[in-house]
Amino acid sequence: MKNNTPFATAERLQQLPPYLFAELDAKKSALQAKGMDLISLSIADPDQPTPPAIVAAMQTAIHDVATHVYPSYQGARAFREAACDWMARHYDIAFSPDTECLALIGSKEGIAHFPWAFINPGDVVLVPDPGYPVYASSTIFAGGVPYFVPLLPERGFLPDLNAIPTDVLRRARLLFLNYPNNPTGACATRAFFAEAVAFAQRHRLIIAHDAAYLEIFFDGVRPPSIFSVPGARDVAIEFHSLSKTFNMTGWRLGWAVGNAALVQGLAKLKTNLDSGCFTAIQHAGVTALTTAAGCVHEIRAQYQRRRDRLVAGLRGLGWAVEPPQASFYVWTRVPTEEDSMAFVTRLMETTGVILTPGIGFGVAGEGFVRFPLTVPESQLDEAVARLAKFV
Ligand code: MLT
Repeated sequence: MKNNTPFATAERLQQLPPYLFAELDAKKSALQAKGMDLISLSIADPDQPTPPAIVAAMQTAIHDVATHVYPSYQGARAFREAACDWMARHYDIAFSPDTECLALIGSKEGIAHFPWAFINPGDVVLVPDPGYPVYASSTIFAGGVPYFVPLLPERGFLPDLNAIPTDVLRRARLLFLNYPNNPTGACATRAFFAEAVAFAQRHRLIIAHDAAYLEIFFDGVRPPSIFSVPGARDVAIEFHSLSKTFNMTGWRLGWAVGNAALVQGLAKLKTNLDSGCFTAIQHAGVTALTTAAGCVHEIRAQYQRRRDRLVAGLRGLGWAVEPPQASFYVWTRVPTEEDSMAFVTRLMETTGVILTPGIGFGVAGEGFVRFPLTVPESQLDEAVARLAKFV
């Protein structure tokens, strides 16, 4: 329909609130301009550099003129093989690099495009709440209807699938899951994944599992991939990322594995939208997943030290904080009577500490705030010290 304002954005974009982290960034810039000393604990972006072996692999790859041409749509064969080897080595699950694996320009790209490949206008998509905002926005872009499934503390932040009304299920096509979870830090058990897979089979649902935090686990306990349960390959696709595992958020590299029809549907969509990921970055990704993979132990150990320090600091203030078993998020209740946005705004303006308000992840996130572990311990200590004066 013609709009009187020629540059009005499309209705699908108008339906969305501003992207959470872009909004927090704008507030941060305004305070910075006033000269405030800020501790930014909003978007979680690893503060440590990409390991040198991966950077060196990129330096070599970029001099190879063969990387300067259009990349393969499906991803470099060597990268897909390395991703499938990774799944075999760490999760004991075999995938075919030819049909069951696809390179992504970061897992966000794959997740954001997936509903375009499988959702028809009016289809319901089951979206975790609180959850990564991209699940709902990509659903809306594809003409789907998000139905928010609450993740409640009393259920360990796992959804109660049996509480989803029958009329919603009749129209539902896709269920998003994300464990280890952003923002709650919760992990799924194999039993939960088995229940979700059986549920998907019963109701003819696709499961899109966002596994971006799978490698950031603590106390030596590796969380499961959804493919650790029988039957998952019939219904699921899983999104993996190098961003968090190897401090590579800026490189934009990830992969999807799973049911061949789901992987190929996304691949077909992507051939129409993008031209793949720069081949030199994929070569660096091969090094990350093979010869440089040992660096992940130190990356995990550092997050674990920070987790312990932050949890101890907050507990020292009297906050009832549960240490996460994986991911790099500490999710905890707002310690005052305020709602999460009011608390975060007042905290930011008074102390310069910027947290993410739970409401930014959905209505069931209200009453909570999120701390990331992606800043040095000294900054976590300073944040706790400022909180001590503030609360
Ligand atoms: C977050 O802070 O929630 C993540 O860094 C966002 C992302 O992965 O895109």
